Amino acid sequence: MTVAKWRGEFPALRETRDHPAPVYLDSACMSLVPTQVLEAMEAYYRDYPGCAGRSLHRFAEEVERRYEESRAAFARFLGCSDARGIVFLRNATEAINLVGQGLSWAPGDRVVISDREHNSNLIVWQRLARERGIRIEVLSLGPEGVFDGDRLETLLERGVRLVSLFHTSNLDGTSLPVREIVERAHDHHAKVLIDGCQAAPHERVDLSRLEVDFYAISAHKMLGPTGTGVLASTPEALADLRPLSVGGETVEWSTLEDHELRPPPHRFEAGLQNYAGAIGAHAALDFLTHIGFDRIREQQLRVNNEITSGLEGERRVHLLGPRDPARRPSIYAFTLDGVDPNDAALFLDEGYRVMVRSGMHCVHSFYAQRGLSGNVRASFYFYNDRRDAETFLRAVRELLERVPSGTVTGTSAATGPPAAPHGSGPRRAVGSTAAVARSARPPRRAERGRAGSLARSG
Ligand SMILES: Cc1ncc(COP(=O)(O)O)c(C=O)c1O
Repeated sequence: MTVAKWRGEFPALRETRDHPAPVYLDSACMSLVPTQVLEAMEAYYRDYPGCAGRSLHRFAEEVERRYEESRAAFARFLGCSDARGIVFLRNATEAINLVGQGLSWAPGDRVVISDREHNSNLIVWQRLARERGIRIEVLSLGPEGVFDGDRLETLLERGVRLVSLFHTSNLDGTSLPVREIVERAHDHHAKVLIDGCQAAPHERVDLSRLEVDFYAISAHKMLGPTGTGVLASTPEALADLRPLSVGGETVEWSTLEDHELRPPPHRFEAGLQNYAGAIGAHAALDFLTHIGFDRIREQQLRVNNEITSGLEGERRVHLLGPRDPARRPSIYAFTLDGVDPNDAALFLDEGYRVMVRSGMHCVHSFYAQRGLSGNVRASFYFYNDRRDAETFLRAVRELLERVPSGTVTGTSAATGPPAAPHGSGPRRAVGSTAAVARSARPPRRAERGRAGSLARSG
């Protein structure tokens, strides 16, 4: 299949008589959903709308079969040898919470996180620090976001219970060496939880090779529906976790006085489940497997290369992360001198139907440390093509032309300079809050840039 054919599978990318296809560059937030997935979910509600594990009739039997088939498909997709290690949850955030809140902690237990974690892999530990007295050790990745094994080793030597890190960063698309991290952690008897949200959609994750103890993903970043996520592990490791919720579906039996929990994974799936979500996610895995990660990577890189080299000479564009797109294939994140990130995002959408994400991307800690108000993130998937890259470049260039250097739009002016992530020059231009990027926008959107800037940052 070619990119054009792949694109044809995504209804959200269709052209209409009045509009060209949108340029969707926000797949790191949520990927688009192909017809195959929509049909699988519709078929559930249309043809066998039952619930698994309760009634004995044919709808229920069909749902049960397909729900468990989806679990087996996730196990194959992630290289888990035992499908009982796959727990269906709402999203990666819930998966991380299940580990955080499910392990039993003693005061002084140490957890290692990095200084670039999504809030979903930060707040849960902060709460445990407050309420249960655990200690958070922060692995610094330095200004360039580079992993240093010796630094991790120093932390591990203090005696660590759990290392909880991202696999691929949602800030700049760079990845950590998970296998090395696991080896080092296991040598020190620490367990490893990996937030795989931004990796599993883009590369083959083989947990039998990586030997991660817990791996969290969200289906909505890999062509699946919202509200569907997975914690992948082994039944043995899962048995150490206390379920977040209990009730129907989680027990073998109960009396008025007592109950016995079912073995993993069912003890973690309380109440009637998101069957359409699990069945749709299975269709998404089939779609990704059919395309294959080599072609996914190749197409993303093609688009990312074009954008990276297209903006390389622009003095006012500052890339976050390494120059080489091969080290961050799915993301191009940047600031523009003098343009508030939210104003830029609205301008791209209004003027060119280019959809990007702006703000702090749920990593407030990263921006707060640097006194930044956020940035713009274009993220790619295999359905992006050359036209997307060209439209994006045209839009950014027009924005730069229309906002003369020395102007400041929106919240950048209000909250301080969006200094270069890697110190490549000052960004402050004093005073102006009404800039061209803003005034160029139709009134309907005019409030969103400033008011939305921090509120929508994650
Ligand atoms: C790296 C990373 N971790 C965690 C999350 C949270 O994912 P979810 O909201 O699907 O639980 C995201 C979402 O953007 C992410 O990019």
